[in-house]
Amino acid sequence: MTGFLNKKKSVWHCKEIISSKPKRFTESVIREMTRLSLIHGAINLSQGFPDFPAPQEIKQAAIQAIEQDINQYSITWGSKTLRQSIVNKLFQLTQIEFNPETEVTVCCGSTESMIASLLAIINPGDEVIVFEPFYENYGPDAILSGAKRRYVKLKPPNWEIDFDELTEAFNNKTKAIIINTPNNPTGKVFNLHELQFIAKLCCHWNTLAITDEIYDHIIYDKIKHVRMITLDGMRERTIMINSLSKTFGVTGWRVGYAVADPKLTEAIRKVHDFLTVGAAAPLQEAGAYALRLPKKYFDDLHNQYLKRRNFLLKILEDSGFQCYKPQGAYYIMTDITKFGFPNDILFADYLIKKLGVAAVPGSSFYQSSQEGTQQIRFCFCKNEKTLQEAGRRLNNLKPLNRT
Ligand SMILES: Cc1ncc(COP(=O)(O)O)c(C=O)c1O
Repeated sequence: MTGFLNKKKSVWHCKEIISSKPKRFTESVIREMTRLSLIHGAINLSQGFPDFPAPQEIKQAAIQAIEQDINQYSITWGSKTLRQSIVNKLFQLTQIEFNPETEVTVCCGSTESMIASLLAIINPGDEVIVFEPFYENYGPDAILSGAKRRYVKLKPPNWEIDFDELTEAFNNKTKAIIINTPNNPTGKVFNLHELQFIAKLCCHWNTLAITDEIYDHIIYDKIKHVRMITLDGMRERTIMINSLSKTFGVTGWRVGYAVADPKLTEAIRKVHDFLTVGAAAPLQEAGAYALRLPKKYFDDLHNQYLKRRNFLLKILEDSGFQCYKPQGAYYIMTDITKFGFPNDILFADYLIKKLGVAAVPGSSFYQSSQEGTQQIRFCFCKNEKTLQEAGRRLNNLKPLNRT
């Protein structure tokens, strides 16, 4: 018996218990900032979730669904009502008819939609193009799905694409390109010309576009959101991802979806089924209701975020930050050079511990920790009082040229 135990112990010791995959990425810096913010009692302008209530009627729809006993598993790829609402909404926006029976998969947020999509399409050796700076989930998503990443820079101040660099990144191993528009963290909204250029490359190299369009209703200055799936040749090549999280202020509900042609959808549904079975059934019903809200809801959403964007821009500029004015989404990327800190991590640490404001260090949006070290991202999905208090605290900052 003792011999067996000893043998077992030695087997345990020579086995690598942890997979090599999670060793290749760190915990989310964004979500860590929220935890630090709670510890230090800071105003949390790091993680992108609202501190104001979700719309009353949407909450009511969720309560009603629970009271009607919609409390068991829904169809694994999404409740019929939600899938129908999604395609109705998409028809309003694009004049394209999507089939709710074969082209929609409801997942636990955009987050699961993205990983399920990648797991559904990536084979060993496949490459995925990611624009940098990027929403930090895409790095681990690529590692978990086994994709090799190729990064293409978005160049400040306007976060432009270098078309030569982009063209160079494509090759016959390029399985997909991830496009997040409106973009987190830069606030860039990809324009028609850029998307058409990408579409041509996708068609040439037989590459898929996975579009993360979670901020599609949060756009400023009369800029138009262009959907890749509507462009020539891209209907069968696009996996379009979206979610209730940002449009309806319910990031904790975890309901999102992927829309793609039936062949792609079949694979995504299979992966999704074994990842999570399904998203919360009553919240899917509330989502179906939310997507049917009249235009006024979406207009108000836009107006409120426009006000918040302009409010935080002024606060940050008055405090000495150089801001990259966002065209969409609810973040402001800033340059911190004027404050004279050696890097973004020390600056974020100073902000949270000494001033009581949490923001996200810029380097967390780059593959190399040596990049983005003079950038910090703030979010403005907060009520006016919160932003005002953040402004009061940030006013204590001293840029090198301000005494
Ligand atoms: C670009 C982007 N995609 C996805 C997500 C996460 O979305 P969900 O809550 O639907 O999983 C976020 C959240 O901040 C985001 O900024």
